[in-house]
Amino acid sequence: MQNIPTVQSTAGLRRTIRRINFVLRPLQLMEERNKKYGDFYQVKFKDAPPTIMTSNPQAIEDIFTTSPDKFDVGIGNKGLNFLLGNHSLILLDGKTHKNRRRLLMPSFHGESLQESSNEIVSITNKICNTWQTDKPFKVRPPMQEITLRVIFNVVLGIDSAEKYERLRVLLTQLLETFNNPFSSLLIFFPSLQKDWGKFSPWGRFVRLKSEIRQLIYSEIQERRDLLASGKLDSRDIFSLLISAKDENGESLTNEELHDQLITLLFAGHETTASALGWLFYWTHYLPEVKEKLLLELASLGENPDHIAINNLPYLDAVISETLRIYPIASAAFGRIITKPISLMGHTIEPRTWILASIYSLHHREDLYPDPKQFKPERFLERIYSPYEYMPFGGGNRRCLGSALALLEMKLVTATILQRFELELVSKRLMSPVRRGITIAPPASFKMVVTKRNK
Ligand code: HEM
Repeated sequence: MQNIPTVQSTAGLRRTIRRINFVLRPLQLMEERNKKYGDFYQVKFKDAPPTIMTSNPQAIEDIFTTSPDKFDVGIGNKGLNFLLGNHSLILLDGKTHKNRRRLLMPSFHGESLQESSNEIVSITNKICNTWQTDKPFKVRPPMQEITLRVIFNVVLGIDSAEKYERLRVLLTQLLETFNNPFSSLLIFFPSLQKDWGKFSPWGRFVRLKSEIRQLIYSEIQERRDLLASGKLDSRDIFSLLISAKDENGESLTNEELHDQLITLLFAGHETTASALGWLFYWTHYLPEVKEKLLLELASLGENPDHIAINNLPYLDAVISETLRIYPIASAAFGRIITKPISLMGHTIEPRTWILASIYSLHHREDLYPDPKQFKPERFLERIYSPYEYMPFGGGNRRCLGSALALLEMKLVTATILQRFELELVSKRLMSPVRRGITIAPPASFKMVVTKRNK
């Protein structure tokens, strides 16, 4: 890989500064490097193989269409096992990964998904009923509560809200550990993961995690007993997993069930809550966008049908633009090459990491003129290929919950915009910040209800 522009390896303090920079200023760092090295460059490390960073659509197409037996992904995500566990779908590779994806996929698509529509709207109404006029509120907590209740519903079943209240509160508290750029350093510097007692950040995390584990294990036992007595009749994902057999005809172990459930609960709500936060920000930062949305919604009449909302073109374009301008994941999972492949005329050797930058791809001038401007119309004027626009990644690791996330964003937005008139508390341009492994609106982002319509 001689001729690829190269960010040279660093050591000691400079290396630490580089990593801190990556955690605290991920988007600025990507922009600076794109300017200096282009859309296909490598970052060298002293004691590890290089990482190729790319935002070139051709390279991205080649990576996403390469046979999955030429790279691993799960092993590169092993830094997340402290949160998700070793059996998490996100940490798996090969046949087991393929098998588990095949098992879970149908629950997140088609008919199963449409059945969630009523619940999404009713959960949204329930949470928003508590909003009072003229009292500014932080946008994150209600959005997070909506998305967490929705994913509980999909994964744990229809009557989950009250039954799992304790679990819901614990999961929210656990994720608050990484709710700002500085606390996110805990994830990227394992040496900071020290239990100094229950008041230290890591000590608190460890205790919350252990209580969550116990709650999930006792639920697993309860459902196993129901299965054994022939009384397990629910159609949620938890029941599906309890009844499933692995590739050897064996039931999934308690440990695997725990890890898969935790993965779906976490991956299935944090991301969507951040996306909803941006959606409300942009639609109120740019009043003309909100006006157009309201006109489109009004064209459906009173009490619009959920399928009709899901098919609205301007709402769809606003959501696409929201996920373009600040994608929740700044890059797709790393692909670690296991057999030599050819990419952009170079032979890429095994053990090389390839990172496709979603943020840099979405900010290419040639694809998105004025990339820093929020312009939903671009998605009405042009159809982008999956290698030009990829908020949910791609290939064999493409986000499992993309259809659920999009449906949720549409129904939550339509429900809230029809019932309330909202305003931003601060009219200033808001910048994204790191939140754990994702990029999100700042936790301090506030809005205020100025009028209730219903
Ligand atoms: C706006 C919301 C969301 C965004 C932006 C998002 C984004 C992503 C991205 C970028 C990836 C990595 C894909 C790759 O490397 O190619 C991913 C993976 C994943 N997402 Fe999402 N996601 C969202 C919502 C959800 C929801 C609602 C679920 C529901 C369970 C979910 C579950 C997953 C899972 C399980 C994976 C791992 C897939 C695998 O390794 O095979 N995500 N997501």
